Amino acid sequence: MAKNILIIGACGQIGTELTLALREKYGNDHVIASDIREGGESLMASGPFESLDATQYSAIEDVVMHYEIEEVYLMAAMLSATAEKFPMRAWNLNMNSLFNVLNLAKEGKISKVFWPSSIAVFGPNTPKENTSQNTIMEPSTVYGISKQSGERWCEYYFKKYGVDVRSVRYPGLISWKTLPGGGTTDYAVEIYHEAIKNKRYTSFLQKGTKLPMMFMEDAIKATMAIMEAPTEHLNIRSSYNLAAMSFAPEEIASSITAEIPDFIIDYEPDFRQEIADSWPSSIDDSQARKDWGWEPSFDLKNTTKEMLTNLN
Ligand SMILES: NC(=O)c1ccc[n+]([C@@H]2O[C@H](COP(=O)([O-])OP(=O)(O)OC[C@H]3O[C@@H](n4cnc5c(N)ncnc54)[C@H](O)[C@@H]3O)[C@@H](O)[C@H]2O)c1
Repeated sequence: MAKNILIIGACGQIGTELTLALREKYGNDHVIASDIREGGESLMASGPFESLDATQYSAIEDVVMHYEIEEVYLMAAMLSATAEKFPMRAWNLNMNSLFNVLNLAKEGKISKVFWPSSIAVFGPNTPKENTSQNTIMEPSTVYGISKQSGERWCEYYFKKYGVDVRSVRYPGLISWKTLPGGGTTDYAVEIYHEAIKNKRYTSFLQKGTKLPMMFMEDAIKATMAIMEAPTEHLNIRSSYNLAAMSFAPEEIASSITAEIPDFIIDYEPDFRQEIADSWPSSIDDSQARKDWGWEPSFDLKNTTKEMLTNLN
């Protein structure tokens, strides 16, 4: 019999596509989507949905018991740009939701957990190029501090209580099905929407701001791969570095100009510039490649083709 899976925060940028991919693999009725708000039509129509607040332990426990859930993917969080505006709310959501799920696993009520970390765990003192798995980590954002603490707790729960928790540090994610939810790399999605609508985009990040990025299909592939990897292959229980490509706003713009020749980009950096400046430019993901066979499929050129074709 197929296992039952719960996704918390299923209506967001990643959760939407993850839910659809897991339903495709395990069957619609085996993948329970949940969130504090309703999602897009394809998500809501394709399988069970529960209204669920990730900060409420007993509400999650009820859903887990009712559906006999084995695995939880915790995608609910407050992202980097929004978290700078509401530090305490971000800390409360990002940490308590994680403790709730880790404690359910500690008590044996679920057997496996996926929790995403981020390149935001790194900070201004981290070496920027080809940033290694273990390096200086002094995050300077509320979001980064919550992700780094989360990583420490995941490793702690694995070592002390044997909780099977798995994690990757996602870079900025580019997708067309769902809009991004308040991160610093949102510009790399908005730019495609604006290119099609107005042939013009004003970037909130400055020219030359090179950041690690990934097309959503690769992010979903990585998420499913690490969850399926044999336990004995996993050597990192905090969170794995993960990479696909790195680019600056002018590079994504010129990949768009190759398809839409009269597209124009201009620059009006805002508070998000400082967040971006504190993050690495490129990531060394050799440990993920070695341990569980990670390999990305999309570069910037393919990503631009997919984005423009699907948004058109
Ligand atoms: N998107 C990226 O580029 C990116 C990069 C690195 C890491 N991540 C991480 O991946 C995870 C998912 O990110 P995303 O981009 O899909 O975020 P998102 O903001 O698009 O989606 C988050 C979802 O969580 C829901 N949510 C908020 N508060 C909730 C609560 N109390 N209970 C239940 N649901 C709640 C929201 O309604 C939303 O649907 C987060 O942990 C995020 O930090 C994302």
